[in-house]
Amino acid sequence: MRPSLRLFGLLPVLLKSVSAINIFVSHYQGTVQSLTLTPTSGGAYTLTANSTITIGGQPSWITWDSPNRVLWIADEGNSGSITSITAGTDGSLKKLGQCSAPGGAVANTLYANGGYIASVHYGTSLLTTFKLPLSSSSRPLQQITLTMSAHGPNSRQDAPHPHETVVDPTGAFVLVPDLGADLIRIYTIDPSSGKLTSCGSSVQTPGTGPRHAAFYGNKTLFVANELANTVNRFSVEYTGGCITLTKEQSSNTMAGGKAAPSGTKVGEVHVHDDFIIVSNRRDLSFSPDDSMATFSLDPTTSAMTLTGVTSSGGTYPRTFQINKAGDLVVIGDQTTANVVVVKRDVATGLLGPQVASMRIGIVGHAEEDDGLSAVMWDD
Ligand SMILES: *[C@@H]1O[C@H](CO)[C@@H](O)[C@H](O)[C@H]1NC(C)=O
Ligand SMILES: *[C@@H]1O[C@H](CO)[C@@H](O)[C@H](O)[C@H]1NC(C)=O
Repeated sequence: MRPSLRLFGLLPVLLKSVSAINIFVSHYQGTVQSLTLTPTSGGAYTLTANSTITIGGQPSWITWDSPNRVLWIADEGNSGSITSITAGTDGSLKKLGQCSAPGGAVANTLYANGGYIASVHYGTSLLTTFKLPLSSSSRPLQQITLTMSAHGPNSRQDAPHPHETVVDPTGAFVLVPDLGADLIRIYTIDPSSGKLTSCGSSVQTPGTGPRHAAFYGNKTLFVANELANTVNRFSVEYTGGCITLTKEQSSNTMAGGKAAPSGTKVGEVHVHDDFIIVSNRRDLSFSPDDSMATFSLDPTTSAMTLTGVTSSGGTYPRTFQINKAGDLVVIGDQTTANVVVVKRDVATGLLGPQVASMRIGIVGHAEEDDGLSAVMWDD
């Protein structure tokens, strides 16, 4: 019995690895699209457009609620919104709910068992929460105005500019990297009311500009810094009803350890197994294209070592996602407005050749809030 059971157990995995997979894409022109990546012979793939819906505003970010198959879209426009979209396994998209929200939103996350959504508003220095589900008359549960005491050393640090909302692995805290204030703000979640309450901040070196963060287990946090063009590693301690972050390591993200060229803006950081990938926007390492930096992590100490820098296949890789299997990475190049898929070696973590690229909507302009904004795997 045992061997045959094992064989049957393997079959769905084998079948899954050769079937088509959807990719969701948002574009600042006001659209959300689904694409289909289909394996063909000899390890090749085709990438085709499937559905497009127009939601208006300036869609800037996708949160994917995979079990419920709902996309949550943030809107960076001046009169903002939150939009929920259901996605069929066939790539079909249907608008579920939409409500108005403060403008300038650049990221959001679900929390408290998916009962609430938190958004950060770069342009208006706000952290907002809403109770779900949304209706057209939904209003913020909380609208928290972030403050800072003085202008930071970088010209962009004129005001708090929160850039991401990250739920910790225990689901009890939300972390907000604030590029303007050089803080990683930390909030406790009240699971019954959905309210966030500040329990402190981790103060960064002036001019760091923290943008995005990702946990590695529950003892380590990696933070991508847009102004310093570094990635920092912190040890994480749960103490006194809050989280304490202690900086353990800082690394730049260029091949050979050289400093990032002027104009570079480190983007996102994602963790998969014992590796992280960091995107370098506007570094032109593969001119005219930008780059992705891969680091291996020591499973005991969490120390990071840069192991590879590869092409992003376009300019301004604003977002990227590693698939669950870890063998493919989708990159959303903002300015060139193309979706790029590259292979990833699961054992070494290194990014391999590009297997697909597709232009989506109108191209953007460097430094502008236009072009392609976000990509997401349907897995
Ligand atoms: C999307 O993909 C599904 C499944 O392959 C297909 O049935 C459908 O026709 C596609 N839709 C479009 C608009 O291409
Ligand atoms: C962190 O993870 C370990 C191992 O999974 C677990 O035993 C521990 O309870 C976690 N700590 C917290 C604060 O959740």
